[in-house]
Amino acid sequence: MPCFPTLRHRRLRWNEKVRQLVREHHLGVDDLIYPVFATYGQGIRRPVASMPGVFNLSLDTLLEEIKEVVQLGIPGVLVFGIPEEKDEVGTGAYDEKGIVQQAVTAIKKAFPELLVITDVCLCEYTSHGHCGLIIDGAVDNDSSLELIAQTALSHARAGADMVAPSDMMDGRVAAIRQKLDGEGFTQMPIMAYSAKYASVYYGPFREAAGSAPQFGDRKTYQMDPANGDEAIRETRADIEEGADIVMVKPALAYLDIVRRLKEEFDYPVAVYNVSGEYAMIKAAAEMGWIDERKIVLETLTGFKRAGADIIITYHAKDVARWLREDK
Ligand code: PBG
Ligand code: ZN
Repeated sequence: MPCFPTLRHRRLRWNEKVRQLVREHHLGVDDLIYPVFATYGQGIRRPVASMPGVFNLSLDTLLEEIKEVVQLGIPGVLVFGIPEEKDEVGTGAYDEKGIVQQAVTAIKKAFPELLVITDVCLCEYTSHGHCGLIIDGAVDNDSSLELIAQTALSHARAGADMVAPSDMMDGRVAAIRQKLDGEGFTQMPIMAYSAKYASVYYGPFREAAGSAPQFGDRKTYQMDPANGDEAIRETRADIEEGADIVMVKPALAYLDIVRRLKEEFDYPVAVYNVSGEYAMIKAAAEMGWIDERKIVLETLTGFKRAGADIIITYHAKDVARWLREDK
C-alpha cells in the first residue's frame, strides 16, 4: 500500500521555508504595547521583585527606558503612575501636575512619534486601593464616574494619544467620551478594558503599583472568571458608549473570550498579558526549567491566533529584540 495515506499534512511541515509559506499568523513588533511605571524622585530605578526586568522609574530614568523602547521599534507604551501620596478620593489620579500627567508630557516632548496610552483608574491613588470612591463601605459607581472622566481629561490635556479606562465602573466609557468631547478632544481614542476579570494574576502588578485593595476585593466590579457570555454584554456596552478598541484581561486563561469578541464585534481587540503571567514565565526561566525566548514567542503567537490585534506585554522589549534577531 505505497499510496496510503493520501492526506499528508506533513508535506507542508517539511522544512522552515514551506512552514513559513503557509503560516497563518504572524507576531510583529507593531502589535506590541509596553507598560511602564512612572514614579517621583530622581535617578530612581526600583526593581519590582516579582517582575524581573520591570522597574518603577523616575522621570529621568523613564525617558532612558522609553528611548530604548523607541529604538526597538515598539509603537506604544501604557503609562501607570505611582504617586507620592494617596488619599480617600484619589486626588493624584486627576491632578493636572500628577505623576502620569508629568510623565506623559515629558515622553511626548522627547519622543513625539511614540504612541502614549494612559491607564485611567483611581486604585493607584486611593488610600483604600479600590478603583472607585468608597461610600458606606462599598465602591460607589456613579460618584466615581466624574473622577474617572476627570482623570482621562487630565491625561488628554497632558498630551496622551489614547486613554484606557481599567476601573470597570458601569458607564465609564460614556462618561469619558462625553467629557473628552466637551473639551474638544473628539479625536482621542478610548481603549476600554472591557472584559476585565477579578483575577489573582494581577498580584505582581499590585506590588509594582502599590495598589492592592486595603479591604475586601475587586469582585463587585471586575468580572467573575467563570463567566463568558457576560464578557459579550460588557463589551457591547463599551462599544455602544464609544470605545474604539476593546480589551480582554488577563490573556492566557481567557483566550476563548478573545476569540468570542473577535467574532462577535468588528472591533480591534487588545489582550493584556498581565503581571502574573509574566512572573510565571520569568520564574520558570530563572530556574532553567523552560526556554524563555521560545515560550514567550509561542505564547504571544497564541494570542494572535486567538484573535488579538494588540498585545500589551511586559515581554515587549525582549520580543522586539528576538524578532529582530530572527529576521
Ligand atoms: C488598575 C489596573 C490593574 C492592572 C492594570 N490596570 C490592577 C487591578 O485591576 O487590580 C493589572 C495589570 C497587571 O497585572 O499586569 N485597575
Ligand atoms: Zn484600578
